[in-house]
Amino acid sequence: MPNTDKELRLSTGPDLTIAIAGLGIVGAETARQLVQASDRLSARAGRCLRLVAVSARSDSDRGFDRTGIAFESDALALARRADVDVVIELIGGEGGIALALAETALQAGKHVVTANKALIVHHGQRLAGLAEQARVRLKFEAAVAGGIPALKVLREGLAGNNIRRVTGILNGTCNYILSEMTNTGRGFDDVLAEAQAKGYAEADPSFDIDGVDAAHKLSILAAMAFAEQIDFGALQVTGIRQITDTDISYAGELGYVIKLLGHAQPQSPATVQPCLVAKTGQLAQIGGALNAVEFTAEPVQTVLCTGPGAGAGPTASAVLADVIDVAASRGGLPFGMRVGQLARATQKKDKQARRYYLRLMVMDETGVLSAVTSILRDQQISVESMLQKGQSDDKPVALVLTTHPTAPDQIKAACSSLSSARFISGAVMALPIVDEA
Ligand SMILES: NC(=O)c1ccc[n+]([C@@H]2O[C@H](COP(=O)([O-])OP(=O)(O)OC[C@H]3O[C@@H](n4cnc5c(N)ncnc54)[C@H](OP(=O)(O)O)[C@@H]3O)[C@@H](O)[C@H]2O)c1
Repeated sequence: MPNTDKELRLSTGPDLTIAIAGLGIVGAETARQLVQASDRLSARAGRCLRLVAVSARSDSDRGFDRTGIAFESDALALARRADVDVVIELIGGEGGIALALAETALQAGKHVVTANKALIVHHGQRLAGLAEQARVRLKFEAAVAGGIPALKVLREGLAGNNIRRVTGILNGTCNYILSEMTNTGRGFDDVLAEAQAKGYAEADPSFDIDGVDAAHKLSILAAMAFAEQIDFGALQVTGIRQITDTDISYAGELGYVIKLLGHAQPQSPATVQPCLVAKTGQLAQIGGALNAVEFTAEPVQTVLCTGPGAGAGPTASAVLADVIDVAASRGGLPFGMRVGQLARATQKKDKQARRYYLRLMVMDETGVLSAVTSILRDQQISVESMLQKGQSDDKPVALVLTTHPTAPDQIKAACSSLSSARFISGAVMALPIVDEA
């Protein structure tokens, strides 16, 4: 790999000129790298990478030398400039200016690089069609798992494989909260408040903790893994709001930790939900704000990629890799094949039997245990283990069960009967237990 000024001088391609729209967390770092590490990045690309224009709402200092770099107050002007080959969209948002910019740039025959998962989930296929027509590239590595080159691994490194399963820890905020709850025994609200104070969680954290952000990333991964159109509406998504310190503690006693996992397989609906994973498994070791993506495929078997899923440096790293691929004419079609060849998304039903963790808040009275087991027996659910601690005459206490492999419909029916039973307080928590490959 060329790595010196001398080797750079050997490169022959014309300069690749770049514009960046959005100079926030990711945009400013990407610009800084393009300016400060220009020689190294150009050497890797085999041609000179030149940042020529930027746009943001305000023309303020962003911590990089702006000499010779134009500022456009209208981001769309970047897509119309004759001196720009690549537009990097780092504004964000599902539609609005981000969408208008991507469309305008592709229609003007410019390559587009973006970190915007919402844009790709909702408009990616149409944008990929525009890129095909214009014979330019649309790249979005940074939209999935930040600094982990997950899409590149899937599209290139695993191109010879039949992908059977994709599992991911895809949201750093949720992983941080669950890891802190596990390590300290503190409750969800307490840890969330601390994560917000430290800047790990947004003031409105719903996008992260309700699983939407992870679902965006999973739907892009699933489309690429199984050569299917993106079908965001079909994802079954449950966040981590309902996870209590009691769940964390019981899961620990049973030999598990709780993780928010995205899970996609060809014949089942993709899911994002809290799951129990064995303490001794690989996924349990992914702590704090780290992300991980695990591919199970034939003939490779299992490949686990892990690293930082967000933040200025990790996300800029993925954006820069895309720019270098554009410069080197690498990386192919956005979804790994022509948009017209992606299979239509079909309705899938989840029939896969799994073991489950059930947590019920029950009144501590005689006959409750046999009533619970009788409801489970009615659904042909067999109990693997049962834990109950503490006693109270007037308050409900936690009863925790694990089941043998059970179909999702049976679990749903049992939870519905249990939730309406007189001796049970509140909803029943049912979490799948995931056995790693
Ligand atoms: N942050 C991460 O860790 C991360 C990780 C993965 C992916 N992403 C994705 O990367 C993208 C950018 O995220 P970010 O965290 O860098 O966002 P951010 O810090 O909020 O930055 C957004 C930038 O867009 C600019 N902007 C807003 N409206 C504009 C307009 N109409 N015209 C021109 N510029 C405009 C803002 O300008 P001003 O600065 O002047 O207000 C700001 O510089 C998003 O799609 C996000 O999902 C982010």
